[in-house]
Amino acid sequence: MIKLFKKKNQTEKLICDQRLQHIAFIMDGNGRWAKKRGMPREYGHTQGAKTFKLITDYCGEIGINTVTVYAFSTENWKRPAAEVNALMDLFMDYIYEALEVMMKKDVCIRFIGDKTPLSDNMKKLMADVEEGSKNNTRHLNIAINYGGQDEIVNAVNLALKQGKTEISAQDIESNLYTNHVAMPDLIFRTAGEQRLSNFLLWQSAYSEFYFTDVLWPDLKPEDIDKAVADFYSRQRRYGGL
Ligand code: IPE
Ligand code: IPE
Ligand code: MG
Repeated sequence: MIKLFKKKNQTEKLICDQRLQHIAFIMDGNGRWAKKRGMPREYGHTQGAKTFKLITDYCGEIGINTVTVYAFSTENWKRPAAEVNALMDLFMDYIYEALEVMMKKDVCIRFIGDKTPLSDNMKKLMADVEEGSKNNTRHLNIAINYGGQDEIVNAVNLALKQGKTEISAQDIESNLYTNHVAMPDLIFRTAGEQRLSNFLLWQSAYSEFYFTDVLWPDLKPEDIDKAVADFYSRQRRYGGL
C-alpha cells in the first residue's frame, strides 16, 4: 500500500507517488464564471490565468512531475477577435513572467501546438523560455493552438520526412509534441462538460478522467485533492485482468 498522506507542520499533506506522475487540465469555464458576475468574458480569462498559477504550483507541491494545460485550441480561433486578442495578451504576459520567474522553479516549460500562426514576438519568447528551462526536471506543457488531430497529422508528416514509408505507433508517439513526457495519468476537466474537445487524443488512450462542475477560476487545491483521492481509488487494467 502506498502512503498518500504524510504529516508536515501538523497538517495533512498529500504526496503523490509514481502512479500519478502526469495530470492534464482542460481549463474550462472562464467565460461562464465572468458571465455569472455580469462581467466580460475577458475578465474570466484574467482570473483563469491566476488559477492556472495557483493550481500548477500546487501540483508541484504534491509531487506531480508533469502538468499539461489546455490554454487555446485549434478551434478557439472561431471566437470573436477581441476575445482571441485578450487571450494572446494574457499568454504574452505569462511568457514574460516565465522568462523571469518560472524558469527558476525547476520547471521545464514547453509550448505544445502549432506555433505557425502566432506572432513572431511570441514565437521568439516561447523559444527563449523553452531553451532556458530545458534542463529542469519537472515539466509544464502549455497547449496553445493545440489540437489532438492536428498533432497526430503533424506526427505522421514528420515521420514521412524522416524517411518512413510505413508508419508505426512508435513513429507517431516519438513525433508527438509531448514526446518528452509520460502519457497523462489523469485528465481533469472543469465546468461540467464531459468531452475532450480535441485534447491529447493519442495520449489519452488509457488516461483516467475526472470531471467537476467547478468553473476553472473557482478551482482550489482542495478540488485537486478530491480528484487525486478519486484517482487512487481506481484500478487501471490497460486491457489486462
Ligand atoms: C476556457 O474557458 C478557456 C478557453 C477555452 C480559452 P471558456 O472561455 O471556454 O469558458 P466557457 O466554457 O465559455 O465558460
Ligand atoms: C476546450 O474548451 C479548449 C480549452 C480549454 C482551451 P472549449 O470551451 O473551447 O471547448 P468546447 O467548445 O466547449 O468543446
Ligand atoms: Mg469553454
